[in-house]
Parts: sequence; structure tokens; C-alpha cells
Amino acid sequence: MKIDILSLFPDMFQATLGESIIGKAQESGFLDIKVTDFRDYTTDKHNHVDDAPFGGGAGMLLQPQPIFDAMAAIDKENAGKYPKGRVILMDPAGRRFDQEYAQELSQEEHLTFICGHYEGYDERIRQLVTDEASLGDYVLTGGELAAMVMIDATVRFVPGVLGNMSSPMGDSFSNGLLEYPQYTRPADFRGMKVPEVLTSGNHQKIKEWRMKESLRRTLHRRPDLLKSAKLSRKQQLMLQDIKLDENPDVPD
Ligand SMILES: C[S@@+](CC[C@H](N)C(=O)[O-])C[C@H]1O[C@@H](n2cnc3c(N)ncnc32)[C@H](O)[C@@H]1O
Repeated sequence: MKIDILSLFPDMFQATLGESIIGKAQESGFLDIKVTDFRDYTTDKHNHVDDAPFGGGAGMLLQPQPIFDAMAAIDKENAGKYPKGRVILMDPAGRRFDQEYAQELSQEEHLTFICGHYEGYDERIRQLVTDEASLGDYVLTGGELAAMVMIDATVRFVPGVLGNMSSPMGDSFSNGLLEYPQYTRPADFRGMKVPEVLTSGNHQKIKEWRMKESLRRTLHRRPDLLKSAKLSRKQQLMLQDIKLDENPDVPD
């Protein structure tokens, strides 16, 4: 997957995207990430990329010219190598990012992220994009951290990046539920014992225990997720069991 990022602060990406799993995925050729400083494209003689809003108001807005020209240069560079994929504007007013969105973006061969700063964007910049994405209902100083989070969550679904495709699919949210509790050695740590079923070697029982604990954790911590999770008949029965076990007077 090719990822282009437009930012005024390209150094911010080095520490996150150059290290660990994403760094290795770039070395192995599964990912190709390029950060473009759109200040390099300004035609302003003082190198400015922002100006005051028409009509007055606080703060400065990113002007369209540097971003339009940087995008044109990126398109030219990628022509014939990657299809033009989705272009994502980082914006608190955008679609809320989640695991489903990450999985959707991971299907693309090419993604471009535009990171805002200061008070925001000139509205005409939105004409360049296919998506407007928000990390959550709060305001960051710039789009860089939000883009890094989105890229990190998205590329986990790109084949080869994690090495083992079964892991992102079993993660929390991928099946609409939270992940079940997990344990490693030792089986008894300071009197805190691993549930016996996990050391039993009975794979069917382990699978059922995990399914039930995943439902239990979701019921306790994020009951809202259960409203939209597509539960099998077996999972529905398990959920009823959990509710009855814990509150026998209120069967649901
Ligand atoms: C200080 S913010 C501008 C906020 C803008 N005045 C508003 O009220 O929506 C500067 C930039 O940070 C990025 N940003 C801030 N919060 C974000 C969020 N929750 N999700 C994604 N990007 C965000 C956007 O690129 C935004 O243009």
C-alpha cells in the first residue's frame, strides 16, 4: 500500500511510522509511506501557507494554493504506479474513525492524508478529498496525530504487515465485540491462577470459553456494542446465560 501524507510538520511522523511494525513493513516493501511538506509548494514570497479568514474571526486558515499544488505533484509522481485512491482530510467535523473504517481503508492501494493546522482549512480544499475523518469529539492542534492513529490502525489489516492475518481479525471490535481475556506463562503467578480450561488442551472448550468471555466483557464494558453486533444463535444463548448467572431475578 502507498500512503501519502501532506503536513507542515513531516518530522512528527518519523518516530511513529519509522519504527516497530510499521517501520519493518516499510523495509519489507509492504508499505511505502511518503510525507510531503506542502509549505514547499507555496508561491508566497514569504513562504506563508495560511491567511486570516474573510469576514474576520480568530486564527489563520490554510490557503488552497499550496495544498492543491502539492496534491498535483503527488498525483504526477504516482501516475502509472498506483491508482488514485481515497484522499482523507483530517477534520473534527468528519466521519468518526473506528475499526470498520480502518478495515475499509485497508482495501485501497493508495491513501492520501491531509493534515490541517492552525484554525482549519479554506473550504475549497474539501474539493480535493473523498473523505473527511475525525479521531473523536475533541480538537487537536493539528491533524498529524490523528493521521498517525488512522494509519497505524489501517495498515494492521494490510496483508503482510502483521505477518499473521488472524490477529487483527480476532482483535477487539473486528467482530463487533471486545477481545476475551488472555494469559501467558506462568500458569500460577503469586497465587493468581490461569483459568483451568486454557491449560486443558481441549480446543473446542477453549473456543467456547473465549466466545463467552468476549461476550461477558462486552456486556460489562461496552453494552452499546451489543446492539449492533451480529450474534449467532449460539452467542445469543451464551449472552442469556451470562445475564442469568449474574442476575438470576432479571432474565432478559
Ligand atoms: C485546531 S484544529 C482546527 C479546529 C477547527 N477550528 C474546528 O473547530 O473544527 C487544527 C487541525 O487539527 C486537525 N484536527 C483537530 N482535531 C481533530 C480530530 N478530532 N480529528 C481529526 N483531525 C483533527 C484538523 O486537521 C484541523 O484542521
